[in-house]
Amino acid sequence: MERALGEGAVAVILAAGQGTRMKSKLQKVLHPVAGKPMVEHVLDAIAEARIGRAVLVVGRGADQVHERLGGRVAYVEQSEQLGTGHAVLQTRSLLRGEATAVLVLYGDTPLIRAGTLRALLEVEQAGSPAVTLLTATAADPTGYGRILRDEAGRVRGIVEEAAANAEQRAIREVNAGVYCFRADWLWPHLDRLPLSTKGEYYLTDLIALAVAEGETVETVTLDDGTEAMGINDRVALAEAERIARERVRERLMRSGVTMTDPATCYVDATVEVGQDTVILPNTILRGQTRIGSDCLVGPGTIIEDTIVGERCRLVYSVLEGATVEDDVALGPFCHLRPGAHLARGVEMGNFGEVKKSYLGPGTKMHHFSYIGDATLGANVNVGAGTITCNYNSESKKKSETVVEEEVGLGSDTMLVAPVRVGARSTTGAGSVVTRDIPPDSVAYGVPAVVKRRRAGNGQT
Ligand code: UD1
Ligand code: CA
Repeated sequence: MERALGEGAVAVILAAGQGTRMKSKLQKVLHPVAGKPMVEHVLDAIAEARIGRAVLVVGRGADQVHERLGGRVAYVEQSEQLGTGHAVLQTRSLLRGEATAVLVLYGDTPLIRAGTLRALLEVEQAGSPAVTLLTATAADPTGYGRILRDEAGRVRGIVEEAAANAEQRAIREVNAGVYCFRADWLWPHLDRLPLSTKGEYYLTDLIALAVAEGETVETVTLDDGTEAMGINDRVALAEAERIARERVRERLMRSGVTMTDPATCYVDATVEVGQDTVILPNTILRGQTRIGSDCLVGPGTIIEDTIVGERCRLVYSVLEGATVEDDVALGPFCHLRPGAHLARGVEMGNFGEVKKSYLGPGTKMHHFSYIGDATLGANVNVGAGTITCNYNSESKKKSETVVEEEVGLGSDTMLVAPVRVGARSTTGAGSVVTRDIPPDSVAYGVPAVVKRRRAGNGQT
């Protein structure tokens, strides 16, 4: 039986370099592109290509990389950055004998697609060449290794920019930095690499070595040259960001999401949006955000790490770390902070803020309110200007507020926590509630006291 593509292949990703040109404290491969670290884009492409095993070579900023990626990948340390060839050599004792094909990628190439990796594996599987090399035709080849070919069009080697003469620099076919090696050829050749004039062992010099030995070198050439983009500085980072975001928008639109002005919708690669949801201009969707179907999002809305149900309307609002169930209407100008949970059918408008609180089904909070560290039952009406005074500046402690179902809070009610308002009670305008109010009561004043129990509840 033919082995499945990717089976018997291992991926080695290089991420040990200093990334000097980024001028950053953050390890180069951790810089986000469309909300996801560059190296995670590469790892996701590898997983999508169904290559089972991936090893990351780390060096500079290894701690940062460990912290971000955890156990998702195996690590090999390159303690001295002696070049890309030397980096791959560090994985030899771990991987030798384990795989028949070794795919090498650079962690700073976030736009690479799974389909391209599959294409390399197909060429490798068809003829077992020593090297299968990914190349691209660049409009501006500056900074990339140039592909040298003979008159017959056969690859002879790769020359790095610094070592290239004027004629070679004019070559527009560049090394994309993705290779598939036949494992039994790769391992014994890695320590035969010459030392470059820059004092590094270049992986790219393996091509000339293979050619000199009469081995086959195959190439796969990209139609979409942007996939080959290596990010060495912040200018390239911004360009990759633009391309990655375009891809995300296209994916969403093809899956049934409407964007009235796509160029002004900034959506991270990690975000999911349901069918028939409409995203209006100037909207930013970030992180682990999931939005259901048939919603209207924007204009001017920022949503981060938030789950939104179906049929919600979110206008000019900011949502962070929140949960919003179906049929919720928000805005204009709402701020949901971490731990806000709005149940089905909640309506919230005009300058409302909710933090670490649950608003029960059908609860309405229409004007100028702050609800923090609170639990509100179903169908509560939060009057204009209601505030939970959840922080005691003397004890420096936060306390909880509970408002049971069907309560009507009068305009400008101050709920001084800890405090509980019983079901179906109402407070008068301007009440300062410092003690619990039993169910079915009417309370008002400063501090608020129960003035009467409401008729029809069997009490007087
Ligand atoms: C490299 C290629 C170049 C290619 C380009 C594509 C070499 C010599 N040159 O150039 O032909 O066109 O990528 O983007 O390979 N790294 C290590 N250890 C090291 C040195 C580098 O792990 O000792 C890692 C870096 O972290 C980086 C990757 O290898 O992720 C590539 O290194 P970089 O310095 O960015 O190479 P380029 O100059 O871009
Ligand atoms: Ca690079």
